[in-house]
Amino acid sequence: MYNSKVIGTGHYVPQTVITNDDLAKTIDTTDSWIQERTGIKERRWASKELGETASTMAVKASEIAITKAGLEKKEIDFIVFATLSPDYYFPGGGVQIQHLLGMDTIGALDVRTQCSGFIYAISVADQFIKTGMYKNILVVGSEAQSGFIDKTTRGRNMGVIFGDGAGAVVLTRTEDNTKGVLSTHLHSEGKFAEDLALTSPNPSNWTDIIEKENDDLTHFPYMNGQFVFKHAVTRFSEAIIEGLEKNKVTSEDIDLLIPHQANLRISQFVQRKFKLEDRQIFNNIQKYGNTTAASIAIALSEAVEEGRVKENDLVVLAAFGSGFTWGSVVIRW
Ligand code: UT7
Repeated sequence: MYNSKVIGTGHYVPQTVITNDDLAKTIDTTDSWIQERTGIKERRWASKELGETASTMAVKASEIAITKAGLEKKEIDFIVFATLSPDYYFPGGGVQIQHLLGMDTIGALDVRTQCSGFIYAISVADQFIKTGMYKNILVVGSEAQSGFIDKTTRGRNMGVIFGDGAGAVVLTRTEDNTKGVLSTHLHSEGKFAEDLALTSPNPSNWTDIIEKENDDLTHFPYMNGQFVFKHAVTRFSEAIIEGLEKNKVTSEDIDLLIPHQANLRISQFVQRKFKLEDRQIFNNIQKYGNTTAASIAIALSEAVEEGRVKENDLVVLAAFGSGFTWGSVVIRW
């Protein structure tokens, strides 16, 4: 069995910066409410004029990751793409990345586990590399969510937290079993699917919706915010503990924890629970909001750029979100 290790990271965020004050022009909210409850100062929104979509942003992040990996595009054997905001209902966005990157007819797989998407995507890629089926895999998380969130006061609990952007990594095979992805841990609890969901249009009502003008709120994402928050703090902690126990390490051994950037208050809760110093945790939600499947990928890329991840570091990634789904990845860098 091989291990998989990250050899390249990259990210791309749209140029359009939307501050809390910008949102307050059309939504009954304030900069202080948003900062106090979420830590978010601003987020990026994809530009329709520039044709920015989850796929086009994913391509930009991927090109950087592949270059940093020192590989040619033709050396990538497989694509795993995590998003909840694909350009089309079908086909999934993985094939668009394959096409836009001008890659050969390699396989492209879509992962639909929302905020945990990048964790699941890494785990899937890791299995393919472990078994020797593929050598180099491009793992991407990208979201263009600004197009479908409710930007009125009606949807303000969600409208203020989500943002757009993309992050990517290249995983490659290593024969050193002490390095790279040490373990991955995945969970779900579908009985809470509707507590954070976009339930319509769906195949059973699609034609009705297109034919009729209506203001059915199921066309907007819905979140049972406090309920999700309570589950998030519990499940984040469980996923991190599971990863630490599996690898016989403690929270003191963590060099960098990158939690999914759902809400700064959730990250701070986790930081306090595990008694982590500021140097042991990475947050960038202040700049980008919650970018769902892209958030850990963007944060990892920024952490690497800032020199926060060094050879031999113990890096823990953890996420919780819609599904509910949650999980963690433990990496010896
Ligand atoms: O990434 C996937 C996982 N997602 C998460 O983990 C997110 C978890 N949830 C949260 O982060 C929080 O629930 C939110 C930040 C989304 C909302 O904060 P909250 O403290 O749970 O607010 P709430 O929805 O319970 O609403 C409390 C009050 C309500 O007013 P009333 O009914 O008490 O008068 C809301 O209408 O705050 C009001 N409110 C707002 N006020 C100003 C909700 N959103 C806003 C807003 N600006 N943007």
